[in-house]
Amino acid sequence: SELLITHIGTLTGLHPTGTTVLRGLSMASLPQMENAWLLCRDGVISAYGSMEDLPGGHAAFPVLSAKGGFVFPCWCDSHTHLVFAASREEEFVMKIQGKSYEDIAAAGGGILNSAAKLQDTSEEALYESASARLQDMIRQGTGAVEIKSGYGLTPDSELKMLRVIRRIKETFPIPVKATLLAAHAYPLAFRNNHEGYIRQIIDEILPAVAGEGLADYIDAFCEQGFFSVGETDRILSAGAKHGLRPKIHVNQLSISGGVQAGVKHKALSVDHLELTDLEAINSLSNSSTIATLLPSCSLYLDIPYANARGLMQADVPVAIATDYNPGSTPSGNMNLVVSLACIKLKMLPEEAINAATLNGAAAMGLSEELGSIGVGKRANLLITRPMPSLAYLPYSFGQSQVSTVIINGKVF
Ligand code: NIG
Ligand code: FE
Repeated sequence: SELLITHIGTLTGLHPTGTTVLRGLSMASLPQMENAWLLCRDGVISAYGSMEDLPGGHAAFPVLSAKGGFVFPCWCDSHTHLVFAASREEEFVMKIQGKSYEDIAAAGGGILNSAAKLQDTSEEALYESASARLQDMIRQGTGAVEIKSGYGLTPDSELKMLRVIRRIKETFPIPVKATLLAAHAYPLAFRNNHEGYIRQIIDEILPAVAGEGLADYIDAFCEQGFFSVGETDRILSAGAKHGLRPKIHVNQLSISGGVQAGVKHKALSVDHLELTDLEAINSLSNSSTIATLLPSCSLYLDIPYANARGLMQADVPVAIATDYNPGSTPSGNMNLVVSLACIKLKMLPEEAINAATLNGAAAMGLSEELGSIGVGKRANLLITRPMPSLAYLPYSFGQSQVSTVIINGKVF
């Protein structure tokens, strides 16, 4: 099957073949071609070039005019919790009234509230609601996604969540990565027996998950009141025995040394870093770990924004993602994340777009096949309305410029 996209005002993300992650200062470069065409064949990009030398033979292909809009590689959203049973807008109102994220969690809200609801929700219902969310995300330009468990917190419910994610993998046309986040919070039953839950994760949940091949990565919420650095360390070691590389939650609400623990375990990414201390930057700077920043979480919780500039100056690869979840970030909109990265993380439009595409793909181990425009790469693309410039995309915040999404070379 073929699709020829013509009249592309600007084709962006033409990173040289073999570029699989952008570090630091190289993030400011986003190679482009004006007035271009691009041919998709069998789900991949098979050729592209300038409209001035559009080969005559191409007249045979089905044509889609980009009408002068930009074409980008799709957004690669490398951090979400989009499988959940119910929304939590009552906490939204509590926050307006002055309660903090920690207050709400301590009052039995937060993750435990979501876990209680998920236990009573069927796999089918979870699949249906998560699918609807993912459909919306794809329409907004997302072409690859990572999804975490972590609202189960029992062996049965964690496995239930991961089976939902597996079914999403099987039924959606985009790449989906699954992350085991059993260490998201201590369940009520283990409130006074943390060791018991850690043993359950290591001795029961992990082997069952690995046995069914249900997870690509392992995660832990390394945070005061949640999992300590020592506990995180044990969970990551156990994950490694089952071949699961870490992608962890760190430095969201407090500085813990969890970033360094992630680096020690060769984490693919350390995520959040709203509190970006110098030790964390230094340890990342000499590692292969990606820093994944989640600015819409900062916006929604009204907490600090990560020090993206400090990370980039230290040559750390920065990715951005939504963190879509019912508690701290009820939004799966990568267009907003790109705008916030510019407005609040002070990333240049080129940096933010690279962070949302190639580096996002890298944070899911997918940058060989996604995240930039190149021959042989998967044809997951977004086409915008005509825009006066690249910067117009993040500038027009809260609005989507996406007019058409192409997944595997087909209009979605
Ligand atoms: O990434 N920080 C931990 N986990 C989620 C929030 C989970 C929740 O509140 O339901 C996050 O922000
Ligand atoms: Fe998260």
